[in-house]
Amino acid sequence: MKRVVVLTGAGISAESGLKTFRDSDGLWEGYNIEDVATPEAWECNPVLVQDFYNERRKSVLAAEPNAAHYALAKLEEQYDVTIITQNIDDLHERAGSTNVVHLHGIITRSQSSIKANLTYPIDGWELKMGETCELGSQLRAYVVWFGEAVPMIETAAQLCSKAELFILVGTSLAVYPAAGLINYVPRDVTKYIIDPNIPTIANRHIVEMPYKATVGVPMLVNELIGNS
Ligand code: APR
Repeated sequence: MKRVVVLTGAGISAESGLKTFRDSDGLWEGYNIEDVATPEAWECNPVLVQDFYNERRKSVLAAEPNAAHYALAKLEEQYDVTIITQNIDDLHERAGSTNVVHLHGIITRSQSSIKANLTYPIDGWELKMGETCELGSQLRAYVVWFGEAVPMIETAAQLCSKAELFILVGTSLAVYPAAGLINYVPRDVTKYIIDPNIPTIANRHIVEMPYKATVGVPMLVNELIGNS
C-alpha cells in the first residue's frame, strides 16, 4: 500500500466548531499565549491555565468529527495512512483513523507536572486542581506548551521522509518544528495543500486546493481511491 502522510492543523476541525488560533476571532485573539500556554504561565497562575484547557476540553467533547476527518479515515481502506496532527482534539480518532501522531499532545489526557511522559485519561471535561499523578505532582493538560520540547518531532520527521504522498490540511505553518516537517518529504513526492488560504511554501510538486477541509479532503480522497 502506498504510504500517505497527512499533516493537519486547526483548520481541519474548524467546521466541527472548534476555533483555530490565528484566523479572525481565533483563540489567540481572546487569550495571550504567555498567560495560558507556557510553563511560566503554569508556574504563575495554574488555575487560569487549568480553566483554559478545561473550557477547551468541554468544546472538544461537544464537537463531532466532520467530513474531512471521516474522509481521511476512509483513505485507510486503500493506503497506508499516517496522520500527524498539531491538534489536541481527538476528532481524527473518533472518525476512525487508526494511526495518529499528536505533535502537541491530546486534551483528553492529563500529564504529570514533573514527568512529562506520565499521562492519564481524563474522565469528563474537568481536570481539577488537587488531582495528582502517582508521584504526587499536580496533573495538567497533556499539551505541549510554547517553549517545551516536542517529543514526537523526530518520529514525525522520519515518517515524512518516507512519504510517497503528502497532504497538508488546515494549517498556517506558523509554528515550528511542525511547520518544518514538509521539508522532510522527498522533493519528488506530490504535496497536496488543502486550505481556503493556501500558505506560502517553497517546495516542488505542490498541488494547491483552495477549499474548506470538508470540501477539499473528500474531493481528494475520492480521487485517490478512485485512481488506486
Ligand atoms: N478548512 C481548511 N482550512 C481552514 C478552515 C477550513 N474550514 N478554516 C481555517 N482554515 C485554515 C486557515 O486558513 C489557516 O491556514 O486553517 C489554518 C489555521 O491556522 P492556525 O490558526 O495558525 O492553526 P495551526 O496552523 O493549527 O496552528 C499551529 O499553533 O498555537 C499553536 O499549538 C498551536 O497547534 C497549534 C499551532
